[in-house]
Order: sequence, then structure tokens, then C-alpha cells
Amino acid sequence: MVRIRKSIEDVQEYIPGKTIEEVAKRYGVRPENVIKLASNENPLGPSPKVVKAIKENATLANRYPPADAGELREALSKYVGFPPDQIVAGAGADGVMDVVTRLFIEKGHEVLIPIPTFPYYEIFARACGGTLRFISRDENFDVSADDVLSATTKKTKMVIICSPNNPTGNQMSVSELKKILDEVNVAVMVDEAYVEFADFSVTPLVREYENLIVVRTMSKAFGLAGLRIGYGILPAKIAREYMKIAPAFSVNKLGIAAGIAALGDKKHLHKTQEIVKKGRAFLQNNIPFKTYPSQANFVLMDVSPLTAEEVCEALMKKGIIVRDCSSFRGAGNSLIRVSVGTSDENQCVVGALREVSS
Ligand SMILES: Cc1ncc(COP(=O)(O)O)c(C=O)c1O
Repeated sequence: MVRIRKSIEDVQEYIPGKTIEEVAKRYGVRPENVIKLASNENPLGPSPKVVKAIKENATLANRYPPADAGELREALSKYVGFPPDQIVAGAGADGVMDVVTRLFIEKGHEVLIPIPTFPYYEIFARACGGTLRFISRDENFDVSADDVLSATTKKTKMVIICSPNNPTGNQMSVSELKKILDEVNVAVMVDEAYVEFADFSVTPLVREYENLIVVRTMSKAFGLAGLRIGYGILPAKIAREYMKIAPAFSVNKLGIAAGIAALGDKKHLHKTQEIVKKGRAFLQNNIPFKTYPSQANFVLMDVSPLTAEEVCEALMKKGIIVRDCSSFRGAGNSLIRVSVGTSDENQCVVGALREVSS
């Protein structure tokens, strides 16, 4: 048998949430009655302008897209207020972060990651031969610049901060991030996948620091998770190196058209933000367990003394899928993340949680 690189054999497989089809089959629920609040998707669906753009471009599927997704980067440039040469686009934020990690990490390098957090960072780093240094968050899931700086060693080549953090929902403040950026001379990647639901963004700091890379996605607020569009806002020098090694054509033709259409529909974006913020407050006020403040489109709850596994199982029997966070490193076994859904979905999940908790 051919030998896979040792660092890859050691990678722990990512455990994704259950799909609607799996739950429908296992618990005998009709798929159309299953409520999925496990992947932080947009409850409104894509903008009608996106659907129109996809239809209009469908017959061009035989043609390659522009290799550098130029038009989409132009549209993103207007949205974020940075020039196109400071923007890269890829196959989801995951695709972008994979390439960014490859720019900085090789065998023997260390990557610092506050946990619990989005598990993919660890996979990208290990796939490059990097080793991980995990920093535990405090009881409110905050991590300070001092915690990060004291974990830094000569081998540290990258710090990855998820803000707002998945699954905890909190952000790192601009001042704490600045303290890190002022001290370290390595790449700092901030994942702002949920920034449209948050109070602030750290993107303006990209103008000040030559080692800051902010990664974002169109999967969440823009409702394009199925199309795989992510982007980075970064110093032009790093963007040029990124372009050299990124797979060409990584944003497909329909994705480019859809992304541009979505960026052109501010009304849909604002409606999404409004629904999410309202639904988030409803969940926080009505979930019968301890919940944590959230700057994202999900709410984290601690169901102890019950376990996340038993509560998730009880909800799945009712056709509701939420995220058991037990597989997130450092999350323990009693945390559950629930995405903000439509008002009906939010009421259903609250009702089901009340039954489970009584
Ligand atoms: C923090 C975070 N980053 C990135 C992603 C993935 O984004 P994309 O769909 O753009 O790959 C997710 C998806 O859930 C996420 O939670």
C-alpha cells in the first residue's frame, strides 16, 4: 500500500453535523418536517437575484470561469472598501484558509489556536506538517492577548483567531488583537465568517499590519453555503503569493455570478441580519438552559447536568437537528450550538428544549 504522509495519517477526521436525510431515515420523520439548525445557514435562503443570476449563467457551464475571479473580487472590493489587489477569493472560507495556511506552515512550525473553536484550522495546519499549540479560553470563552503571547515560541509561525468564534459566539476585541499584532512577527489569520451579525470587524487593521489576514465567507449572511464562496482581505504582498499557489478557477462560474448578485442585494442582507438578531435574542431569552452572548447567527447553550448527546438525540427524535459540540476540542460534553432559524423554527426548538429539560 502506498504510504500517506505521517502528518496526514495523524489528522483526526472532521465530524460534520447530521444531514436532514440521515435524521429523516433514522427517526422515521418526513424530510420536509425536519428542522436543521446545525450548520449556521441562512434561514431566508439565497436572494431571488442570486437565483436569477444562476439561471442566466447555467448555459455557460461548459466555459471556464476567469482564473482570478476578477469581477467578483471587484464587487467584494466595493463591499469591504479595500482594493481588488488586497482581495483573494476561493472555494469557501475553508478553501481560502487552506491556501493561507500553506503559505506559512511547514514541518516543525507551530500554529496557535484558542479552543474550543472551528475544527478545520487544526486539519489545515496538520496537513502542512505543522504542530498545534492550543490555548484554553476562560469560563466566558474569552482569550486575552497575554494568553496568546505567552504561548508563542520561536517555532510559532501562525496564530488563528475565530471572531466571532464558532461555537461560542464571542469576539476578540480590536485592542486585544492589536496587542497580539504589535508583538508577534508571524501571520495572524482572523476568521470573520460571522462578521455580518457582529458589532464590529477587525478588517480596518489590515491597513496597519503587514501580517494580518482576514478571511470571510458568503456562506452565512449571504446564504450561499452551497456555492462555496469565501474571500480574504490581506496585504497586497501576501495576496500575490497566495495567487501563485491557489488552485486556479476555484470559484466557479455560477458562484461568481451568484456572489456578484448577492452583493448587489443589500435589502436581502439587511433582512437576514434583522431576522438573525431578533431570533438570536428570542433564543437567548427562551432557551431553558444557560446560554452565552452571541455575535453570530447561532447561540451556544450549556445543558449540564444533562449531556449534549442525550439532548441532541431527544431533539432528533422530534426531527430537530442542532450541533452537539462534544467533538470540538476542549468543549466538554454539555455544549450545544443552535443556529438561528425562522421564527417558527426558533419556537419549535425552544418548545422541544423545554420538554427535554422538564
Ligand atoms: C468559523 C467558520 N469559518 C469558516 C466556515 C466555513 O465557511 P465556508 O462555507 O465559507 O467554507 C465555517 C462554517 O461553518 C465557520 O463556522
